[in-house]
Amino acid sequence: MFKTDSRGSHEGPHGDALSLRGESNASASLITGTDFPCLDIRKTKIALNSAVNHDKGYLPLTRYYGSKRRLVDWMVGEFQKYEFQTALDVFGGTSTVSLALKNLGKQVTYNDILESNRVTATALLSNQPCLTSQDDLEDFFSKIIPEHGFVSEYFNGIYYTSEENNWLDGAINELSKIKNTLRKCEILYCLMQACLQKRPFNLFHRKNLHLRQNNTRDTKFGNWATWEKPFSVLIHRALGEIIKARQPAKYDPIILPCTDAIALPSGYDFVYLDPPYIPLRKQDISYMDRYHFLEGLCNPSQWKDKIDLAKINRPIPCPEDMSKWISKVQFKDHLFTLIEKHKGSTVCLSYVHDAYPGVQEIKSFFSTTFRHTVLLEHDVPHALSKKTKKEIILIGRS
Ligand SMILES: C[S@@+](CC[C@H](N)C(=O)[O-])C[C@H]1O[C@@H](n2cnc3c(N)ncnc32)[C@H](O)[C@@H]1O
Repeated sequence: MFKTDSRGSHEGPHGDALSLRGESNASASLITGTDFPCLDIRKTKIALNSAVNHDKGYLPLTRYYGSKRRLVDWMVGEFQKYEFQTALDVFGGTSTVSLALKNLGKQVTYNDILESNRVTATALLSNQPCLTSQDDLEDFFSKIIPEHGFVSEYFNGIYYTSEENNWLDGAINELSKIKNTLRKCEILYCLMQACLQKRPFNLFHRKNLHLRQNNTRDTKFGNWATWEKPFSVLIHRALGEIIKARQPAKYDPIILPCTDAIALPSGYDFVYLDPPYIPLRKQDISYMDRYHFLEGLCNPSQWKDKIDLAKINRPIPCPEDMSKWISKVQFKDHLFTLIEKHKGSTVCLSYVHDAYPGVQEIKSFFSTTFRHTVLLEHDVPHALSKKTKKEIILIGRS
């Protein structure tokens, strides 16, 4: 659907697309008095940066797998210790970190390999006021005429009821009539959020409509109460979130065409890496497996050619550029190549314990790649259990 970025280009931070705005690009250096030793391990059980008042109200709620929303206050407090202007969010996901960086006044470039995330970024990151009002949204969805289309034909009994599938087919048809890209992304974002809210676990990795149909109001499903609400009711919260997120800033964020992390250019002052992690004990599934249905909604004309009809949940197969980031055999080489590529920048990597390769190995790689490395840990409550989990950031600079 979108093949080029908003400027029709795909350049590094110092290319024409940015210099057109006549802004200079200062290179990174530390501004705090803190002189990090070569390796500085600091454990934070409480918010380290209580001095930073970073109101998260503009960040949309999300249960996206791996979202850094709950960590963003802490991370932003750390980012502020470095002087930088251009920032690249390589595995951008929900746009949470890009939004936080934009809110700090940074010149943000967003990337993610999934089209549905690119649509989300387009809806949330723009400096323009939201084009769609709640009345427009109501008006748009009131025009939908349910029909038997692709979703009804191929996803019968898989994620949504027959009536909901017919409604989604009608929505896809109505969306195809919108010509303005930004407006289309705003409405698609609202629709995608409603689709996620109506899914057990907010995912599409399993055929499990029966969990909804045999709904025992099980408290292990935090979102069971929303499952039966119509899409047309759930869309409105998402629009409110777009409106709050769309705050004007000094720089207009750049949203890249969906690109494999390795292929992005270097030269940014600050590079944020939040790759998928390889769990030590189990085989992970890909982000495509989790969110393929949203990819289909964003690209309905190509959906039929992409889905795997042999699988009962009808996923879109994970492309090689994604699967290499969830393979134990390839992940480490790719991650280290990526860090090496950006070693002229200040690089921040989000990471976790219990992943492959281990934190010690990554820390050693940072220490050999950068003159200064800092490793920070932060306790966060786990969404589905009472245990807390340690999240990590490593920041390297030369
Ligand atoms: C841990 S999540 C990032 C979460 C994000 N920081 C946030 O706060 O929402 C990892 C992201 O990497 C993306 N991804 C996976 N493979 C990729 C690749 N080869 N290149 C770029 N992005 C990729 C996934 O789509 C996913 O959104």
